[in-house]
Amino acid sequence: MDMDVNIKANKEKCIELLRSTGREGVEDLILELDRMGFFTAPASAVYHLNCEGGLAQHSLNTFKAALGVWENMKNFCPHIAKEVSMDNIIIASLLHDLCKCDVYKRKREPSMRPYDYTKETSRYSSSYDEFPIGHGEKSVILALCAGLVMCDSEMVAIDGTWGHGA
Ligand SMILES: [Fe+2]
Repeated sequence: MDMDVNIKANKEKCIELLRSTGREGVEDLILELDRMGFFTAPASAVYHLNCEGGLAQHSLNTFKAALGVWENMKNFCPHIAKEVSMDNIIIASLLHDLCKCDVYKRKREPSMRPYDYTKETSRYSSSYDEFPIGHGEKSVILALCAGLVMCDSEMVAIDGTWGHGA
């Protein structure tokens, strides 16, 4: 059963957040996100948010979680506010799974059964053949190729989310 995902609202929110950074290349990135299917792709084939628009939803969820951590950390370590900016949070969290844009393909005949985690069935199949490279690196490379200028800490943060179950 699909999660309740508002694709249009999520797309608008992602674009609003990315645009708010005023980062060089962000408009080119937004066009490329749309072209690559970022706003309609699922976040996984079998696990969390394996539905249309799941990837953007997961990315926004990650942004909200990162924002919460950042706000709390600033209370204990005020220097964090100087070291990590809101723009860093937006770029790193929203783009951390960019690599998933072209990984999942909708199966031609989706299962009509209710989704059951104990069964190895899914409405999506996954393939890493399009661009076989590490997930974190792929996300960074796709964003850079789209024209977005990123700082080192953002690239390290995106790469670092992989391998930690994010
Ligand atoms: Fe993720």
